[in-house]
Amino acid sequence: MKKKISNLLKELELTRKIYFNISPQTGKFLNLLIKNRKFKTILEIGTSNGYSGLWVAEALSHTGGHLYTIESHEKDRYHLAKKTFSSSGLNAYITLILGHAPKAIPKEPKHLDMAFFDATKYEHIDYFKTIEHRIKKGGMIITDNAISHKKDLKEYFDNIKNNPNWKNYTLHLGSGLLISIKK
Ligand SMILES: C[S@@+](CC[C@H](N)C(=O)[O-])C[C@H]1O[C@@H](n2cnc3c(N)ncnc32)[C@H](O)[C@@H]1O
Repeated sequence: MKKKISNLLKELELTRKIYFNISPQTGKFLNLLIKNRKFKTILEIGTSNGYSGLWVAEALSHTGGHLYTIESHEKDRYHLAKKTFSSSGLNAYITLILGHAPKAIPKEPKHLDMAFFDATKYEHIDYFKTIEHRIKKGGMIITDNAISHKKDLKEYFDNIKNNPNWKNYTLHLGSGLLISIKK
């Protein structure tokens, strides 16, 4: 990873709690996973100030892919994410969308390798219903806060865990990750 990007990640880690960012370990995991699986088309719901997006986009700069990331908070976090992505030099790999998912989820590209859910917990079922059919076979949905917000996510977890098209694994990493793999 270029020094410029690792320095920017370190700088953002100082305000991690304010912007509800994933843990550095979770970021490293997503980065390695994307590189290893050679994922190219990724959707993130919940950009905040762009910290997780930076880990994802750095990996996509190696696989030649693209990140579509949605943030609804116009007053502050959307603009901070814009700044983060510009300073990283990774803008070519990122489309930052201002809006509220699931409505703001772009219709193209139709097929996705991976989606990362890290936004309003009670809406996860709606995100899932909107993109379930667009995730490629062998592709993934990764959900943050699988342990920290287990209760809030119960309905969504029960739904996806009982869905025969998906295989699920919980990782005790950061706030907990649910890794859902499309069969
Ligand atoms: C936990 S933070 C995301 C942190 C970010 N993924 C990171 O680790 O750097 C959740 C963000 O999702 C945004 N958000 C919540 N509901 C949303 C929705 N339905 N569509 C888009 N953004 C949403 C919030 O404004 C907030 O900035």
